[in-house]
This record gives sequence, structure tokens and C-alpha cells, in this order.
Amino acid sequence: MIMLIAVSCVTKKIAVKESPEVISIIPIPSEVIYDRAVNNYFRLTNNTNIYVDKDNDELRRIGQYIAGKINTPTGFDLSVFDSGNLSEDGNIYLRIVEDETLGTEGYKLTVTQKNIIIEAAKTNGIFYGVQTLRQLLPDEIESNTIKNIEWRVRTVSIKDYPRYEWRGAMLDVARHFFPVEDVKHYIDMLALYKINRLHLHLTDDQGWRIEIKSWPNLTAHGASTAVDGDPGGFFTQDDYKEIIDYAFERYITVIPEIDMPGHTNAALASYPELNCDGIAPELFTGIKVGFSSLCVEKEITYEFINDVIGELAQITKGPYIHIGGDEAKSTKEEDYIKFINRVEEIVKSNGKKIIGWDEIVNADISNLSIAQFWATKSNAVKASQKKVQIIMSPSTRIYLDMKYNPSTPIGLFWAGYIDIKKSYDWDPSTEIDGVTDENILGVEAPLWTETVKTMNDIEYMAFPRLIGAAEIGWSKQHLRQWENYSQRLNLHKNRLKILDINFYQDNDIK
Ligand code: ACM
Repeated sequence: MIMLIAVSCVTKKIAVKESPEVISIIPIPSEVIYDRAVNNYFRLTNNTNIYVDKDNDELRRIGQYIAGKINTPTGFDLSVFDSGNLSEDGNIYLRIVEDETLGTEGYKLTVTQKNIIIEAAKTNGIFYGVQTLRQLLPDEIESNTIKNIEWRVRTVSIKDYPRYEWRGAMLDVARHFFPVEDVKHYIDMLALYKINRLHLHLTDDQGWRIEIKSWPNLTAHGASTAVDGDPGGFFTQDDYKEIIDYAFERYITVIPEIDMPGHTNAALASYPELNCDGIAPELFTGIKVGFSSLCVEKEITYEFINDVIGELAQITKGPYIHIGGDEAKSTKEEDYIKFINRVEEIVKSNGKKIIGWDEIVNADISNLSIAQFWATKSNAVKASQKKVQIIMSPSTRIYLDMKYNPSTPIGLFWAGYIDIKKSYDWDPSTEIDGVTDENILGVEAPLWTETVKTMNDIEYMAFPRLIGAAEIGWSKQHLRQWENYSQRLNLHKNRLKILDINFYQDNDIK
């Protein structure tokens, strides 16, 4: 009798804990069909292996990536094999299939009591299916020490593909510098939420952070400090390539930004000839904006830009170079237009497309260029009239450097306080009258670092708002309801703790 009660209690407890509503996947997938029997699981054991299509090196690499993630906390020894004709039970299968409905990034994930199968038309989709599998496994899958728990996954069938092709995050490494290891850590977190673009703000008034071999003083002098006189730093070209490769392996394209003609004091301080008066200013460690400008009339300015873009284009895998173009308050309007027109040509001649902050739509840019909306709605409307694609980064919604509320110890508040709900609860296609999904390439969450000095600070400002931005970029609008999201986020926080992320908590995420 006692035995029976005990058994029924346990069963009940499991049923409640594992009922479909409480499984938290972020971003929420397009279609999730749970097995009606709530107690059916696939059990991961030391006999589980990963089988991939024969002769597909990339599938094998993704297989090894997930085997590594699983082996650490389970203590198992999953290996990757060619599947051939085998279809033994108890394994994880990664397969390329012909299914146009999945697009480049979509996937199907099927968990039965016998197997886990991830299928996609492209390896991008397999990678995203693997990220969803991480979230279906117990939170402890993110532990970096062995946990003795039952490693099981509820039986479920998922079909998932993204709303937008551009799901980005930006990190400002200019106001404060962050070394390669920090950027890689950020990339790992982006990958978990299916973010596929990392925009690096590499240059600003306070520091030049990328080695340019033909203009060495940019880093020798221009990288030597940061906001508040904090230590500077820069990426060598080899460091930068290491970041790009690390991101690329996680299906993330790196977009380098060289901000110009404003936000250029570090360059102007490093080379007097770039200044109209030929005099180099002092290095700058404050946080005001809008005071610096490259000398638009001088020919050497364009030689400089061509050298910088040329070196950067050589080592950048993605098709884009971001040219900034924001807050050029010390450049006359007609000069600004001539300047942006010319820089667009320079970038094109180096084989890349330009992206710029929304102000660039005031120049005669081609509709192959991309505008990043951050502040001025009329610029976004102008972009859509010119058929220029728009990346949505409204500062009032997803600027991750804005304080959550007046008591947030770091951050700025010029675009307002942005709590978790405000950062999540908006639709890119209705944010600006006259700008719809037809014109929207996607969403990007920038993190400016005037007040952000450490990885702990980055995590505090980015998490959990970045996770919400990832869902805005990936999930269909009709699937996104604040109440439901906040429940999923609350369930998700244990995973963030295990990942050792210093995330912000308030009444929305306790
Ligand atoms: C910006 O925040 N100045 C793009």
C-alpha cells in the first residue's frame, strides 16, 4: 500500500513537472506537437551515438559539436558515425533532406522513445535543430561538470523556421575593449538563441580596435585607451580572423563596423594628415558624441578609407562592411552626402555591400545597401521608399545599454528605461508607420559600452533582453505573447544560472 502511494505520487509529480506547457523553448518554434502521452521519453545513455549522412563533413562537425556539449555534463562518450543504412534505436540522427518548406534555416526535430532525428534542407537548419535539442534536454546539459541525473527528452515533433533572415547582436568594443575570449563567449550565447549576425563596432572616438597594417598608428596610438581612461586594446588581424572563424562555425556572420565620418577621434588623433587643419587632437576618454569628423575635402581621407576597407574586406568572410554614418554632427550635410556616396563606391570596389545607421538614407545609396534604423523614423520611411532593406534596432526597445529602470547600476537612459517587457513586447512590422515586413530584413540588438566594462556587465545588460530580441527575430508574431514568454523566461532562468550568466532579474523574471 505504501509502495503504491509512493509510486503514484512520483508519477503525479513527473506529470506536473513535465506537462507540455512547462517546456520552455526560446525562441518559440513555429510548430510543436507533443506526444499526447506525457510520460514518454527518449533516454540518452552511454550507448547513444550520433549518426550523420555519409561524406558530409559539415554534418559530422555539427555532430561533434553537440557530442561535446552532451559528453561534458553526462560523462558519456557519444561519438559521431556515418549513418549508412543503419537505423539502430537509441541514437541521434542528423540528416539532410529535400524539403523546400524548411528554407535555408528551418529544421524538423522528432523525438520518439526510440530516436532523436534532426532533419533540414541545409546544415544551418541542423545547427538550429541542435540548439533546440539543447533546450529540450534537462537544464543541467549546460553544466560544465558531471551531473548524475536522468538524461531524457520528452517525445515531441517540432517544425521550425525563422521569421527574419537577419537576427543580430552588436557589441561595441571601441568604448571599452573586450578580448577575443569574451567575444567568443558572447558568440556561444548568441548561437544558443539562433542569432546569426554579430556586428562588431570596431572604431569610435575613444578607440580604434582593429589592426590595419598600412596605418599602424591607428592601433599603436589610437587603441591605447578607452572611456574613463580605462585600458585600451585591439584585435590583431589574426585575432579578428579567429573571431570570424569561431562565429562562422556557429552559423554567425560577423559584420565589422568602421564608423565614419563622425565617431573618428581615435583615427584623427593617430594621423594628423587626416585632420582638415593638419593637427592631431588628443585621445578622448569621455562619452559625448558628434564632435569629430574625417576631413571630407582631403583626398588622403579616401586613400585612408580604401586602405582600411581593403584590408578589412580581405579578412571578412561575410558580404557586408558597416560604415557607421551616425551622428555626423560636425560634418556639413552636403559634405555628408558626398562622403557617404563615395564610401559606398569604395566598399563596392572592395567587393562588399554597405550597411549604415539610418542617417545614410539621406545620401544616394543603392538599394543593395542596408540601413539600420536606430533613432529617426523618417529615415526608416525614406529607406522603404527607396527600397533599401532595413535592420530594426529601435533604441527605445532593444538598445541593450539602456538601463532597465532608474536603479540599474550601469547603463544610459537617453532612449528611456527599457524593462524586459518593453524590450520584448513590440512587433518590428508595426513599430514605424510606413515600414512593413516587406522592407524589414530583420532585427538587431546593439550593446554600446560607455558604462559597460566587464563581461559581467555585458551579461547583466544583455540578459535577458537579448533572448527576447532573438525571439522577435526568429518567431512569428502570432506566437509571441508576453504572458507566455515571461513564463518561458522564468523557466529558462535556471539554465542561465547553470550557464553562469550574470543576468538581470526583476518582477518579470524572479
Ligand atoms: C547610435 O546609437 N549612435 C547608432
